[in-house]
Amino acid sequence: MTNQPKALVAGNWKMNGLTAAITEIDSLNHKIANHPNMACELMICPPATILATAVLRAENLEIGAQDCHAALGGAHTGDVSTEMLTDLGVTAVILGHSERRADHGETSAQVAEKVVAAQRAGLVSIICVGETEAERKSGQALGVVSEQIAGSIPLDGTHADNIVVAYEPVWAIGTGLVPSVADVAEMHAHIRDLLKGMFENDGDKMRILYGGSVKGSNAAELMNVDNVNGALVGGASLKADDFFAIVEAAYL
Ligand code: PGA
Repeated sequence: MTNQPKALVAGNWKMNGLTAAITEIDSLNHKIANHPNMACELMICPPATILATAVLRAENLEIGAQDCHAALGGAHTGDVSTEMLTDLGVTAVILGHSERRADHGETSAQVAEKVVAAQRAGLVSIICVGETEAERKSGQALGVVSEQIAGSIPLDGTHADNIVVAYEPVWAIGTGLVPSVADVAEMHAHIRDLLKGMFENDGDKMRILYGGSVKGSNAAELMNVDNVNGALVGGASLKADDFFAIVEAAYL
């Protein structure tokens, strides 16, 4: 694991969390302060309604958004631009999550436009890719992810500091199922090769997160796999104790 980028453990709260949930961020602040030598960075991506409060309350952890619009501004009712996010102090945005690809029909081309917008505003893009259960069973997982990577990540303007890739097999999200260590290793090595093909040396420095049913009890094993540079965590990120258990298992 030498030469690998510093790990990132990011929590995706999805459509969960009222104002009272900010106390989980207070609790994370305490835990981080007690562990100054953590071998990872932490991020929480709360819903848009509490982003501003989260930015004000977070200490030593980044706050990210869960989506954005590609345009600078204009007639897009209900949408949020990347400039609005940086204006709040948000530093990253999750893009192309499988729930957005499924619920909103987001294509890789649309994801790529959002990545360009994120780069324009100075946000880090956490770009999600991953196959469905049917695609894995029919042996298409590597091919599907290759297409998503090629389609979702623009060649221009992308470098190791402004994108993170998250491999999230759709069938592992929120199900308690996780792929075997061998399958995670194979996919992450594949993604590393794709990134090196697209970005040469920078591709070696890009973080590749694993996501899908990560929790304290499986984090050490998953985070130890070559080319796994952290986690994108859904359900287990909602409570500070559960989220920090992942850090304790893998990065303390
Ligand atoms: P999960 O979600 O940890 O609840 O499986 C992961 C994600 O969707 O990012």
